Amino acid sequence: MCMDITLIRGDGIGPEVMEQAVRIIKATGVPVEFEEFDAGIPALEKYGEILPDDLMDSIRRNRVALKGPITTPVGGGFRSINISLRQAFGLYANVRRAFSYEGIQTPFRNVDILTVRENTEGLYCGIEDTPDEDTARSVRLITRKASEKVIRYAFEAAVKLGRKKVSAAHKANILKETDGLFLRVFEDIAKDYPGIVHDTVIIDACAMKLVTDPQDFDVIVTTNLFGDILSDLTSGLVGGLGLTCGNNIGDDAAIFEAIHGSAPDIAGKGIANPSAVICASSEMLHHIGYEKEARAIEEALKKTFREGRCLTADLGGSASTEEFGNAVIDNLG
Ligand code: NAI
Ligand code: MG
Repeated sequence: MCMDITLIRGDGIGPEVMEQAVRIIKATGVPVEFEEFDAGIPALEKYGEILPDDLMDSIRRNRVALKGPITTPVGGGFRSINISLRQAFGLYANVRRAFSYEGIQTPFRNVDILTVRENTEGLYCGIEDTPDEDTARSVRLITRKASEKVIRYAFEAAVKLGRKKVSAAHKANILKETDGLFLRVFEDIAKDYPGIVHDTVIIDACAMKLVTDPQDFDVIVTTNLFGDILSDLTSGLVGGLGLTCGNNIGDDAAIFEAIHGSAPDIAGKGIANPSAVICASSEMLHHIGYEKEARAIEEALKKTFREGRCLTADLGGSASTEEFGNAVIDNLG
């Protein structure tokens, strides 16, 4: 049976890196078809809307999407498409694994941290206003329901993946109400998982410990903004934003993407690292049950890093985006 997948190539480096992901998926021979849509600036230019209804219908129907990075205007302009999609489809967990690949030179070895970030509320809930021209404020919304969903997801992931510890990163010493609630939910849910060690760590100390003893961390569960920042940090530990993918998981749909953005500083040059969206492709195929093809992509990516002959500039090499994609295709089993 052939499965339909919604595809958004994105903008900036999006089309360049997504082209490699699409080629690699096709090269595995997996029976999937792509339904392709624009979103954000390209959609605005073509259709006058940033999030076309056809795109939303396609995700609703297919329940799975592969997405390139989408630019969000800074300090004004339209609201983030990424946040809108996550909220619209109730994608409550953003799961990001930072893993030390053999062949990638970094100051840290043996890092394997899974960050599970709450993905629908917190400081990204979209409640922000300017009561007068010298004052602006944001609401940091934390609900029991969303906290329960993401925290339970983190513990379930730990069990499924054979991980040992779940750490809640918080600032409940200052944000007593919001992070206080998040921590109470964490302690309650932890009782259901006696086989998993759990602890709590204050977010600023967590940032320090991540760069001194990253191997002490296993699964981190946290609120939206903290998770956004920490997962870029953990990707830096293992070689940078070009490597890490993010799975946006909900009960009715899931969207797979890179954690990086549209990288306007290198867009159009053909030098971006497509590894993160290739990794996202593997995660997506795993999610929809094409285990063999998912594993083939994962192993081909690992082999390409291990060989070290064909790396992009962010990893110290000189390969183009396309050359890297070719190397991964050559390494598909
Ligand atoms: P960014 O992740 O696009 O870039 C940060 C730095 O990392 C840049 O120096 C860039 O060249 C480098 N980089 C990122 N991905 C790379 C790759 N695959 N290969 C090699 N180098 C790479 O973050 P920035 O500049 O803060 O954001 C740019 C735009 O992307 C903004 O409009 C932002 O809102 C958007 N964004 C979108 C995301 C998404 O669609 N999920 C996620 C993060 C940011
Ligand atoms: Mg981010």
